[in-house]
Amino acid sequence: MTTAMPDLEFVTYACENRLATITVNRPDKLNALNDEVMAQIDAAFAHAKADADCGVVILTGAGEKAFVAGADIGELATQTVRGGKAKSLRGQAVLANIENLGKPVIAMINGYAFGGGLELALACHVRTLAAETKIGLPEVGLSIIPGYGGTQRLPRIVGRGRALEMILTGRPISPETALLFGLVNRVAPAAELRATTEKLASAMLGNGPLALAMATEAVLRGSETTLEEGLRIECDLFGIISSTSDMREGLNAFLEKRKPDYTGQ
Ligand code: COA
Repeated sequence: MTTAMPDLEFVTYACENRLATITVNRPDKLNALNDEVMAQIDAAFAHAKADADCGVVILTGAGEKAFVAGADIGELATQTVRGGKAKSLRGQAVLANIENLGKPVIAMINGYAFGGGLELALACHVRTLAAETKIGLPEVGLSIIPGYGGTQRLPRIVGRGRALEMILTGRPISPETALLFGLVNRVAPAAELRATTEKLASAMLGNGPLALAMATEAVLRGSETTLEEGLRIECDLFGIISSTSDMREGLNAFLEKRKPDYTGQ
């Protein structure tokens, strides 16, 4: 049974058939991220982590226009000299919690994803994008730089040259380019985006939850180190997964020609 998350002003959580949806809900400001919104996103992901009924999370934005149009520019404009670094550190910590959730997170980019909005999507494991929208990192146009991990995660996903083009021009890219860059995994018309995203989610939900967590960990930790060290991380995790009931259940279910019944143990 899904436990209810306390009502939050700017973020909603709903879970059905093991698929949770976290929605940033500040549509009058195109879901822009102020400190309160960031704290509530963190709370919603903490809830998803603890919710035994949640196997995969979709992160999206409320309204027709935006996923998240960036960090709240009004709040940035009143920032103190020392506040900038602290804000960046707080935001980075929230995004790290998403990346290390232990459950797959899909960013369903239903509209504008600029600045902190795109950075939020970059911390998710895969991304789907509405065909009518554009995404980008326009920060340098405001004479700031990406501060929620954009300068680090974007080059790791699309390569340094493409990332630098996006960051230094500040120009948005089209869905076709985003797909070509490997920045998003699927593009679909807005009306079909939910169905496309759910198809991707349900392909993940059928798999062993511990295997999903450990495979993600191997990819994330392994891509930050040497091949030799990455292979060691992989075999350590392979050893751990081999000690689980779910691994025996997965293998036995195949041999017995039945659907596996995973317990996450
Ligand atoms: N921070 C704070 N408020 C924002 C915002 C942001 N990043 N992005 C949009 N908003 C607010 C607007 O100020 C406006 O509020 P108002 O109605 O009280 O004036 C409301 O959201 C609607 O935005 P608006 O600009 O009228 O919508 P639009 O459809 O004409 O344009 C965008 C949409 C996304 C192109 C435009 O809002 C924009 O350029 N936003 C900033 C994007 C950005 O630079 N993000 C990175 C920040 S570091």
